[in-house]
Amino acid sequence: MNDRLQLYLSRQASSLPRYIAEQVIQSLIGWMPGLVGIGLRAIAYRAIVRMEGIAAIEDGVRIRFADNVRLGSGVYLDHGVYLHACPGGITIGAESMVMKNAILHVYNFRNLPHSHITIGQRSLIGESCILRGQGGITIGNDVYLGTLVQVLAVNHVFHDTTRPISAQGITAQGISIGDGSWIGSGAIILDGVKIGKNVVIGAGAVVTRDVPDYCIAVGNPARVIRNLRTDPLPAERLMTPVF
Ligand SMILES: CC(C)(COP(=O)(O)OP(=O)(O)OC[C@H]1O[C@@H](n2cnc3c(N)ncnc32)[C@H](O)[C@@H]1OP(=O)(O)O)[C@@H](O)C(=O)NCCC(=O)NCCS
Repeated sequence: MNDRLQLYLSRQASSLPRYIAEQVIQSLIGWMPGLVGIGLRAIAYRAIVRMEGIAAIEDGVRIRFADNVRLGSGVYLDHGVYLHACPGGITIGAESMVMKNAILHVYNFRNLPHSHITIGQRSLIGESCILRGQGGITIGNDVYLGTLVQVLAVNHVFHDTTRPISAQGITAQGISIGDGSWIGSGAIILDGVKIGKNVVIGAGAVVTRDVPDYCIAVGNPARVIRNLRTDPLPAERLMTPVF
């Protein structure tokens, strides 16, 4: 087979038979809107992804390496979501939601041992978020990512001035986000960062270092401005929440 064609196929599916099966099933019913489409996909996509219970998959969801995708019961994938689950795979826990146009790409074309994207239960990935899982991304339970958040578990090596950066390889350590955290819209989480439990990351923050449990971090680079355990919000700042 032509080298370029082989390269293309190797980046779409685990094998040629898998490519054909995944393309046929997605072409036949991937476009179908509404409840009928969701119902048909909940049945037919079991042939190509690992699904527990029923997952609601809207029309126009694009899945590559579908055999590496695991969806828990009650998962919701909104229109335009793109899951590319190279070796290492994508796991989305029960009742988690991935909203419109979010891109989850494991991006493992170099046999990286720790690559994966794992999302716990009842978590939400907001509209147009981008997750790149070369070094591994682990998101806990009950985590909310606002819109346009980027979680980038990779860096390019750049120290050799005689070669283009694109030829110097990458490093990929991985990122984790603890249970109950909230990542504000537009935040960027860089490789190697561990975000603790119940952490707040302000909108637009660039997170370059670990953030401990129960802390609020804002800005670029993100700095902790409060630890809610040792320095709780004063009574006059508490607002009445709506559920
Ligand atoms: C971080 C946030 C939760 C506020 O937390 P807070 O503890 O109440 O912070 P405060 O409003 O008391 O601000 C404390 C300081 O941080 C600054 N700050 C607050 N949010 C900031 C942000 N996103 N980026 C930079 N600085 C910020 C404030 O200006 C203030 O600075 P100052 O002390 O110099 O005046 C809020 O600003 C935020 O970013 N929310 C995210 C909203 C969002 O993304 N919503 C949609 C997704 S669901």
